[in-house]
Amino acid sequence: MTNWEPILLANVNRPNSEKIETYMRYGGYEALRKALKMTPDQVTAEVKLSELRGRGGAGFPTGVKWGFMPKDAPVKYLAVNTDEGEPGTFKDRLIVERDPHTILEGVIIAAYAIGAHRAFVYIRGEFFLGVKRWIKAISDAYQKGFLGKNILGSGFDLDVSVHRGAGAYICGEETAMIESLEGKRGVPRKKPPFPAQKGLLGQPTIVQNCETLANVPHIILRGGRWYASIGTEKSRGMKIFCVSGNVNSPGNFELPLGTPLKEIIYEHAGGVRRGRDIKAIIPGGSSTPFLTAEKINTPMGFETLQAAGSALGTGAIIVMDETTDMVEVVRHVTRFYVHESCGYCFPCRIGGKRMLSSLEKLAGGKGSMRDIEDLEYVAKGMYGRTFCPLGTGMAEPVLSALRLFRPEFEKKTTKN
Ligand SMILES: Cc1cc2nc3c(=O)[nH]c(=O)nc-3n(C[C@H](O)[C@H](O)[C@H](O)COP(=O)(O)O)c2cc1C
Repeated sequence: MTNWEPILLANVNRPNSEKIETYMRYGGYEALRKALKMTPDQVTAEVKLSELRGRGGAGFPTGVKWGFMPKDAPVKYLAVNTDEGEPGTFKDRLIVERDPHTILEGVIIAAYAIGAHRAFVYIRGEFFLGVKRWIKAISDAYQKGFLGKNILGSGFDLDVSVHRGAGAYICGEETAMIESLEGKRGVPRKKPPFPAQKGLLGQPTIVQNCETLANVPHIILRGGRWYASIGTEKSRGMKIFCVSGNVNSPGNFELPLGTPLKEIIYEHAGGVRRGRDIKAIIPGGSSTPFLTAEKINTPMGFETLQAAGSALGTGAIIVMDETTDMVEVVRHVTRFYVHESCGYCFPCRIGGKRMLSSLEKLAGGKGSMRDIEDLEYVAKGMYGRTFCPLGTGMAEPVLSALRLFRPEFEKKTTKN
């Protein structure tokens, strides 16, 4: 079993873990003190050296993104993505509720590095406790002088505020999130321009996931080289894997990237319930393609999962045992994405509904081979052709299920 000292979840099980006093008792805000003695460019260079990649799903290199921030722009913003809508994903919520200061310290260091004096936390509307914890953490950080004017006598100023979304999955997409922060309906924007060029209120904006930011204090304290020594060649550092589905001990497990899927499922998550065999695994949240049990030895990294035909996504592993009805799973997942489609582009708006209609017929035993053909035709037509990745994410489970489990779909059809 991979034994590794946790960094992101080190505090979550301590009594009163959410309090600033607890966080500081265990070394909290020491990284900020260190960062403020470095230049912003040195901080960015350390994060580049760590090879940290975004944990919100897309895996973009964090230090590289910070480097895109135009140096001469008078106003710059940082937006903190606490939307966490991808089914199967429940890691950001755990850190926000149990250890918000670990993210907040990362926020302050990131804002310093990119030269932002204003940061916005965007949090999913349903996370009531998370909202309270964010507000309390920010207010305590102001009191201790970690936020506001002249932070720790460094001359650096930063204000942070919390904004609640209304529970729309699309508002986790960075440009839709920016629209929502501006008080508009959450619909994605055309890219380019990317948010780092023209984001919130037309100003350069860096959007970063909570788990990504929680890594930053550790990178500053222990060095980018130390961080890059964890994991695999292309997937560095620690990752929180959210394991759910037919396992004995579902939960969040923080392990080095590159830990084999088999180890996570059988040694950390307690194995498959009732000792059953695995039929399918979703490795990175429900918009990533299914894997079959043969891929169980795949290391959980960006490059290794891609080679196995799927993606790391958010690191949300959903395990389905041999009794699972795959048509029902795909119907269920598609229903979610159809509900969450913002409706802006027609392949997603109309294609999603058409796929769902075929899936409902098949799941109800009233479908035909024609429905399977139509399902595949529409999914292929949507793939890579929607305005934002939501539509492609909706087509992924359909296409991979048809590729891997087609006989199950065919078994559901009536004769024609
Ligand atoms: C449909 C959709 C939903 C998304 N939802 C989230 C989300 O809930 N949280 C998140 O951090 N990133 C989400 N993302 C990714 C963001 O667009 C963005 O890449 C990320 O917040 C950048 O931060 P990172 O580089 O730290 O991962 C979503 C992307 C898409 C296409």
